[in-house]
Amino acid sequence: MTFPVAVLASGRGSNLAALIDAREAGKLPVDIVLVAGDKADAPALRNAEAHGIPTLALDPKSFPDRRAFDEALFANVAASGAQLVVLAGYMRILDAAVTARWTGRMINIHPSLLPKYRGLHTHRKVLKAGDTGHGASVHFVSAELDGGPVIAQTRIDVLPDDTEDSLAARLLPREHALLTACVGAIARGMIRERNGKVWLHDHPIARPLAIDGSGHLVAA
Ligand code: GRF
Repeated sequence: MTFPVAVLASGRGSNLAALIDAREAGKLPVDIVLVAGDKADAPALRNAEAHGIPTLALDPKSFPDRRAFDEALFANVAASGAQLVVLAGYMRILDAAVTARWTGRMINIHPSLLPKYRGLHTHRKVLKAGDTGHGASVHFVSAELDGGPVIAQTRIDVLPDDTEDSLAARLLPREHALLTACVGAIARGMIRERNGKVWLHDHPIARPLAIDGSGHLVAA
């Protein structure tokens, strides 16, 4: 069996779709063994079903608190055999105890150049700050929201007439390439987390990696 991956998603699922497409094109050596989330009607789950991937939606309202929800969710993730959890548009904060158990085995894609602009509305924050550059990051997940060591980033220019929508639209295909490259690198054993740092082969990286025109991770 190739490297088993579980994806958590709450909404549209375009990043999940990119992983599925890369896998089906033979470019990503993973099995997506579970797509799970907190929204039963999420398009991400429908797409997974259409591709024959097992799905699971749990309703947070059926659990007494966040920890109980996350324990149930991650019990299912563990039972799937996943060795890596990918948060791809998963819109819930995770319980710290659950997160700690998956240290080094869970990544998130976030639409900003972390550590800038954690949380929501990143495109708005970029425009408000007058930044000339923007981007997305893939990072190992820690207990801190959008914290954890950054594996790689992709960058775009902010143009004078950009809006939140135009920034989001231009960044999204870059996110797809970035996430696919990072999942592939972890599946191939090239990237891992150790002692709170990202290691590329046998060395910790000093700064986040970048992605080249062919979709490969390279030193920035
Ligand atoms: C992406 O912008 C991702 O970076 C953020 O949420 C969005 C999810 O989009 N975490 P999709 O559901 O993958 O289309």
